[in-house]
Amino acid sequence: MAANTYLTGIKPTGDFHLGNYVGAIKPALAAAKVYDTYYFVADYHALNTVKDADELRHSIRSGAATWLACGLDPAETVIYQQSKVPETFELTTVLTALTPKGLMNRAHAYKAARDRNNEAGITDLDAGVNMGLFNYPILMAADILIMEATHVPVGRDQSQHIEYTADIAGYFNNRYGQGGQGYTLPLPKGVIDDSEASILPGVDGRKMSKSYDNHIPLFLPENKLKKAIRRIPTDSTPVEDPKDPDTSVPFQLLTHFVGPDTVADVRKRLERGGTGWGDLKNELFEAVNAELGPKRERYEELMADPRQIDDILEAGSVRARERARAVLDRVRAAIGVA
Ligand code: ADP
Ligand code: TRP
Repeated sequence: MAANTYLTGIKPTGDFHLGNYVGAIKPALAAAKVYDTYYFVADYHALNTVKDADELRHSIRSGAATWLACGLDPAETVIYQQSKVPETFELTTVLTALTPKGLMNRAHAYKAARDRNNEAGITDLDAGVNMGLFNYPILMAADILIMEATHVPVGRDQSQHIEYTADIAGYFNNRYGQGGQGYTLPLPKGVIDDSEASILPGVDGRKMSKSYDNHIPLFLPENKLKKAIRRIPTDSTPVEDPKDPDTSVPFQLLTHFVGPDTVADVRKRLERGGTGWGDLKNELFEAVNAELGPKRERYEELMADPRQIDDILEAGSVRARERARAVLDRVRAAIGVA
């Protein structure tokens, strides 16, 4: 087993935004320079909500193209498609037999769905809940354990899933860790950066998120990006008056796209007065566009010729399967079916 294997799943539902780029894509690409990395498009997780075949096909390619355009190097990272590693689903079946239903009843996403029904006055609290949503944490555990991943970079909302994965691996290890053809699954750790500084605000100042509809999509065409930035609400402080950078959304966004010297300079200019919100937004647009422009072009090239994306995912999936097969063989021997 490799010392450190970093693995994460990319759920292909909807377009990526600046928050995903700063909070997930950039750190994962930095980790790829240092560790053994496995990043995959979690298409069977998306299936729970995306039931339109063309939409799912598009989202899988778009998710992979986004990461490739941002600099993910398939020679450095194994990038693959979850559904192309069927060993995952056999391991899911094995884990299902070891996981108490009560654990699933307590899962956040499932409980939230029931709470929503309750609040809406629907008496069947399971209305609209499919088994895919209920089993979601077991499938996610299988994704992680099938690659013997040791580190799983995720957002804070996913931390319960990583704890569940460690619990489920523990049930397996208690039962099958020793004896005969015993096999012990490594317990993964979540890598979660929830420092304030790593959270990108949306246009309304809350955390940027698709669910708040306050996001700026990652690959907006240049003119639309400019408009989206111009539309970020600001107060009516006159140009010449001093301004507080720390309560300014455009300033906070800017800090993620320029170096520390520029941040210090812009801060000084705002605090001193003489720089208007419009000037700040222009600087923000220039900085975001300079960083994302070439990536947007690459994304569009890839999407115009999706065969390239499909080939990269296929090649990565072959590599991922080799590793998954070896793990599944040990699991099969340990449980007594082989
Ligand atoms: P959303 O809230 O838009 O649905 P997701 O939950 O799909 O976003 O997030 C996917 C990844 O992007 C996670 O790793 C998450 O931590 C990161 N991320 C999402 N929004 C932000 C944000 N505003 N700032 C920093 N990272 C973010
Ligand atoms: N559940 C994750 C999300 O919603 C995506 C995901 C699926 C994942 N399988 C994973 C993340 C395995 C890390 C490891 O964002």
